[in-house]
Amino acid sequence: MANECVLGIETSCDETAVALVAGDRTILAQKIHSQLADHAAYGGVVPEIAARAHLQKLRPLVEQTLAEAALPPAAITAVAATTGPGLIGGVMVGATMAKALALAWGKPFVAVNHLEAHALSARLSDNVAFPYLLLLVSGGHCQLLAVAGVGAYTVYGTTIDDALGEAFDKTARLLGLGYPGGPAVERLARKGDPACFSLPRPLAGRPGCDFSFAGLKTAVRQAIQALPPGEAEDQAAADLSASFQAACADVLADRCRHAMARFAAEHGACERLVVAGGVAANQALRSRLAAEAAAHGAHLTAPPPALCTDNAAMVAWAGWERFRLGQRDSLAAPPRPRWPLDGADMAVGAQPI
Ligand code: KG4
Ligand code: ZN
Repeated sequence: MANECVLGIETSCDETAVALVAGDRTILAQKIHSQLADHAAYGGVVPEIAARAHLQKLRPLVEQTLAEAALPPAAITAVAATTGPGLIGGVMVGATMAKALALAWGKPFVAVNHLEAHALSARLSDNVAFPYLLLLVSGGHCQLLAVAGVGAYTVYGTTIDDALGEAFDKTARLLGLGYPGGPAVERLARKGDPACFSLPRPLAGRPGCDFSFAGLKTAVRQAIQALPPGEAEDQAAADLSASFQAACADVLADRCRHAMARFAAEHGACERLVVAGGVAANQALRSRLAAEAAAHGAHLTAPPPALCTDNAAMVAWAGWERFRLGQRDSLAAPPRPRWPLDGADMAVGAQPI
């Protein structure tokens, strides 16, 4: 099976990405185009602009990926694409391209849930075994889940308001740092004092594994408004970034502690905590989570940052995991703006709703 490989396509947000990944976990080729410049002026992703940019970039990226891998279409085992959840225009562009290629090449098509692609990314990078506890933190999602196998997810907790990446992006916007905010806040936080501003830790100490970040964002806004006139702006922004990031780290550590206890009760032990999704690229959060996991006898696995933020290698890999288990999807598989990981239709072989 080592020579089998899957072409993956990702277009659910603002990255247009194509990758070719082999069943032995080798990334044979990958191309990614970030639309950051197209959306910068608007302070966030504009769905209509994103869909048009995907349409423009996707075909050349497919051609470049095949050329880089020096593989003819006949050598490809299956074609996979994110069919949700995400911005519907972009999802339709990627899914339609993947279906067209599958049809033209006479290959099976596999519909991939974008969240599942993040969830399984640590199996591509680190070959982690099931079951594991997963913290999925991205621009649109913030969840703790038990991953028992492909398509077998139990949601332990989710955000009751903002996703963590959204909180980073909103904080960055308040500080005038531009979009996407996560990397900018992390960079600035290195120069700041995390104890300078006293910010809330929403839901920390409460039972369960849910998250809330809206109150934290409001506290950041109030702290900015309360700055005395003449305050050295750069240092205040750095201190606020550091204080915000420290609050996020405390909240994640607290919620993961609860989740590790539940996972251990349900699975006998919690040996591994996996963190995935765009926010998992944050080094400060990673080291805090590693310490928290170690304190409870678990090991933290975090894929390399380029596999944490949106990419097509994780989509190709999730497609391969499903294909290997017998999943084949109809060319009528619908694009889905919402698609929860714990739905009955996530089981391998289940028909999409
Ligand atoms: O997974 P992703 O690329 O796209 C979604 O599926 O949402 O995640 C994007 C999110 C953005 O909110 C971005 O600000 C955040 O991940 N992010 C970070 C970092 N890098 C990306 N947040 C904190 N620190 C980072 N270094
Ligand atoms: Zn994502």
